[in-house]
Amino acid sequence: MRRVTLTQYLVEQQRSKGVVSAELRLLIEVVARACKSISNAISKGALSGVLGGAGTDNVQGEAQKKLDVIANDVLVEANEWGGHLAAMASEEMDLPLSIPNRYPKGEYLLVYDPLDGSSNIDVNVSVGTIFSVLRCPDGVNCTDESAFLQPGSKQVAAGFAVYGPATILVLTVGNGTVGFTLDRELGSWVMTQEKIEIPADTTEFAINMSNARNWTPPVKRYIDECLAGKTGPRGKDFNMRWVASMVADVYRILSRGGVFMYPVDAKHTGGRLRLLYEANPMSFIVEQAGGAAINGTQRIMDVQPTKLHQRQGVILGSKHEVELVGRYYAGQ
Ligand code: F6P
Repeated sequence: MRRVTLTQYLVEQQRSKGVVSAELRLLIEVVARACKSISNAISKGALSGVLGGAGTDNVQGEAQKKLDVIANDVLVEANEWGGHLAAMASEEMDLPLSIPNRYPKGEYLLVYDPLDGSSNIDVNVSVGTIFSVLRCPDGVNCTDESAFLQPGSKQVAAGFAVYGPATILVLTVGNGTVGFTLDRELGSWVMTQEKIEIPADTTEFAINMSNARNWTPPVKRYIDECLAGKTGPRGKDFNMRWVASMVADVYRILSRGGVFMYPVDAKHTGGRLRLLYEANPMSFIVEQAGGAAINGTQRIMDVQPTKLHQRQGVILGSKHEVELVGRYYAGQ
């Protein structure tokens, strides 16, 4: 296979497909470079003193890890001076961050979760960075929360990095989903998955089973039927995986199919995952890979956000399974 780097891929998308502007290309490259730094910090673990709590809470009242704060700072510093952004919003910051006046401003909004799955950092399990790119709408103050309250269908790009045994970057600019692996010796992202396609059928599901007593009837029905296996209504055995890092669970689904669920339940009445930082970018990536993403009753990318840090029920992955769960929600 021809060795294609992230830069080459983006230049090709710009030149021949016209789906990437020069500014968007720069933005994605800057984010990808920041992910290399975060990967480097994570890989040193206890040796560089980056493990453990930061002693602070984020806006949702969750205790921040040192690496949550480091990863957020890396992304802010990398992106604020390039001239491609109007503003950025992070899961770890209460309010959108404006670009300092000394730097030029661009038309894009960057939205990100700097370190997803951070409860896994201290136990050496995969974590990642998720990002989404929107355009600042005309006539609004781009640093105002309202500029960011756009449905996922308005995203112009989305991606995530997984800091696992290998460091992977998955990306969509609305023209399919592609995967890159970090070549540490050369420091470059090399394309390793040219066209990711999620199989429409699967025998694998991912859900936190400890929430079972809180599930709604459609979720309980779907999982019960999977667990019933060959002799149950589905007529086949299912396997279960739950990494508790959305990046790792979604990457597995992109690689071999499956369904990922963090639905609304009696404990997480508005859902657990964040709409802008997690649900929307992952939905864009999954749909571009031929999968589907719903909150139960609605396509996630059609949901109109009302708050920056709002949560959302998430069911995504192999198309036929997600459609089946959707039919159970509809009472069919
Ligand atoms: O939102 C962060 C996150 O860590 C996701 O990456 C992951 O899917 C989920 O939370 C895990 O939640 P729980 O700890 O309830 O299994």
